[in-house]
Amino acid sequence: MQISTNYSFSQDELTGKVILVTGANRGFGKAMTLDLAKAGATVIMLGRDLGSLETAYDEVVDAGFVEPILYPLDLEGATPEHYDQLQKDVLDNFGKLDGLIHNAGIIGAMMPIEQYDLKLWYSTMQINVNAPFMLTQCLIPALNKSPDARILFLSSSVGRNARAYWGAYGVSKFAIEGLSKTLSEELEKTNIKTNSLDPKRMRTKMRQTAYPAENADNIPTPESMSPAIVYLMSEGAKALNGEQLTLELN
Ligand SMILES: NC(=O)c1ccc[n+]([C@@H]2O[C@H](COP(=O)([O-])OP(=O)(O)OC[C@H]3O[C@@H](n4cnc5c(N)ncnc54)[C@H](OP(=O)(O)O)[C@@H]3O)[C@@H](O)[C@H]2O)c1
Repeated sequence: MQISTNYSFSQDELTGKVILVTGANRGFGKAMTLDLAKAGATVIMLGRDLGSLETAYDEVVDAGFVEPILYPLDLEGATPEHYDQLQKDVLDNFGKLDGLIHNAGIIGAMMPIEQYDLKLWYSTMQINVNAPFMLTQCLIPALNKSPDARILFLSSSVGRNARAYWGAYGVSKFAIEGLSKTLSEELEKTNIKTNSLDPKRMRTKMRQTAYPAENADNIPTPESMSPAIVYLMSEGAKALNGEQLTLELN
């Protein structure tokens, strides 16, 4: 299903909502954080680099949007204890969570499976699949406290149609699609709606790594795509569950 990026929203569209975004310090995560805060949500900005998290935080505050919360955590090294603490922090401070956006990820390396570096394979799976699994598991109790909660998994076209040499990244996105679909079935009768989203192409560091020779001027900015994320967290998208969504730039 295609989701339009041309969504205009009011400044109170998401007022009162608490939404956790992973990889909120830059790229698409930062762009969506700005729009979610602009729409009135309190964003829990999770990222591993405190310096760039603080810079992104300043941008949100300087723009006059709702003040976010910084949550420094490295998803590669995070242990069950870190996730227990996160659950406690969310419940103690907010008593609920309305949105969980699994945006953080790494591209790994473009190479044949036959030669794929074992350590990089493990890292990619840890950040792109195992962390979203553990994060989701620890935050379901908080999502259950919301009357209308959303889980969104950032996916990719190579997680829906296999492409040679995309290695651990492509495999991790197939796994994310499986996790999203399985959860959507398990939580079908609850207040939690679960979907995956392929944003197609955006002018970020990840895209530049995958296509170093490309003219980035022809690639849409993450800021042009992020209004769609506000829509996906809003009342209007309440009926979506178990969908493989794709962003439609228009
Ligand atoms: N850009 C595209 O064209 C495109 C296309 C299809 C799908 N996607 C998907 O969209 C999502 C966002 O992509 P993007 O283009 O914005 O990527 P990006 O510019 O490379 O940003 C990735 C984000 O993930 C964070 N991250 C990586 N490893 C982490 C870790 N161990 N712990 C915590 N955070 C970590 C990064 O933080 P650091 O700054 O600390 O590295 C950064 O904030 C990804 O899931 C990607 O697969 C992107």
